[in-house]
Amino acid sequence: MKRTAIYPGTFDPITLGHVDVANRGLKLFDRIVIGVAENPKKEPMFDLATRLKMVRETFAHKPNVEAVSFTGLLVDLAHDQQANAILRGLRAASDFEYEFQMATMNRRLDEKIETCFVMAREDYTFVSSRFIREISDMGGDVSELVPPVVMPYLK
Ligand code: PNS
Repeated sequence: MKRTAIYPGTFDPITLGHVDVANRGLKLFDRIVIGVAENPKKEPMFDLATRLKMVRETFAHKPNVEAVSFTGLLVDLAHDQQANAILRGLRAASDFEYEFQMATMNRRLDEKIETCFVMAREDYTFVSSRFIREISDMGGDVSELVPPVVMPYLK
């Protein structure tokens, strides 16, 4: 049986930190399904279709990484995709509180789905989509922090 994990996020836009987490996940799972959340409360810069497109283009060469968008509960997406794990990346201790709450809540919603954390590579501990948007908006160079396919979208 194939082991599948959902890697959820807003991906506004996808960064090299996200790519690193997905690649680490491939060491543990046979199939990673990246779940791009609509997340209207976050008022994303890119619409859902564009965020999904950027993720798909980033992993176009990896057949065991798929990407879908979703609007409801993460555990429902996990059920749809026959996944029994949720993959998330941890950067610094500051991520912990939020991740702990989400993992605990998801476990309450479905005890059978395990949340697994991997630590992003040191070079990317400071990389976040929020900073990418801000720096890029102000004319800074983010080309070493996002997949090459993202650059035309930021421009
Ligand atoms: O990249 P982000 O913004 O930290 O990702 C947040 C995300 C998409 C993982 C989270 O908002 C989420 O899981 N949304 C789906 C709604 C849901 O299932 N909520 C209950 C679990 S706390």
